[in-house]
Amino acid sequence: MTPAEPALHLAADNVAALDGASVSPIKASIGSRISGYRFDGETVSDDFRSAMRDLLHTRGLVVFEPGTVTAENFTKFAAFLGEFFHYAGPHTPRAPENPDATVISAGKDSHLRNHVWHADGGFREDAPAFTALFGKATPKDGGDTMYSNTAHVYESLDPLFARYLDSLQVIQSPDATGHITDRYLDPEEAAQARLRMPPFELPLVRTHPVSGRKWIAVNESYVCYIKGVSRVHSQNILGILFDAIKGPESSCRFEWTEGTMAVWDNRVVQHRAVKDYAGDAERLLYRCTMTA
Ligand code: SIN
Repeated sequence: MTPAEPALHLAADNVAALDGASVSPIKASIGSRISGYRFDGETVSDDFRSAMRDLLHTRGLVVFEPGTVTAENFTKFAAFLGEFFHYAGPHTPRAPENPDATVISAGKDSHLRNHVWHADGGFREDAPAFTALFGKATPKDGGDTMYSNTAHVYESLDPLFARYLDSLQVIQSPDATGHITDRYLDPEEAAQARLRMPPFELPLVRTHPVSGRKWIAVNESYVCYIKGVSRVHSQNILGILFDAIKGPESSCRFEWTEGTMAVWDNRVVQHRAVKDYAGDAERLLYRCTMTA
């Protein structure tokens, strides 16, 4: 099977025609860069909005040059892509100058688990459709975010193996790797979080509602096990998938500078931060998430 290349050209042509923007692919398997577009802080045209959504659905990740949006208005731009889906954990407070954004302040030794591959809220069926990150303060060297297109991963698998995966269900939980236990230090808050987010049973492979592409709906942060198979079997299959997700063919690396913005289809695309920057470097990102 081959990835859906033609969609790249269709979506890219749509955006290129709009509002002076130019669009170029990051890689054939994932991502587009938009340059030459400035959000006026008020509105985006319907054509631009629908071309952006097309691009997110087909390319997974869209990155924007500094100056496209500001720390104050990037959530307003993001709100044109979908309805806000607010969730803030104990280590992701609201941004001071923008209450619609949560702060990812990823000091190297912080409690954040943003360096483990995941999709935001990716343990739940109704995980946010899109996530946007804005670079408020970024390390001079390092601190990139990595992205992987799991639809491309699925399409690169042996078709018989892919068909087997289609039949599997998984159990997922935010506590699979201790997100609740380690982060909600107050036992009462931890108990409330467990009630709000119990373990979910979901298909291992899901189908994108717009593109129709199948994608791998498990990540290293949130999957507990594959239902109905032995522990060894479950761990080995998940290991094959995690290796493929990390592989260079389906993934790319985004280097932050202040004022850049990255937006992605959070169902299909997984991400992780790279903690390779100096211990005293500041790395401050603002985030918002949206439903479709
Ligand atoms: C996130 O996990 O949502 C943020 C990713 C990053 O810090 O690069």
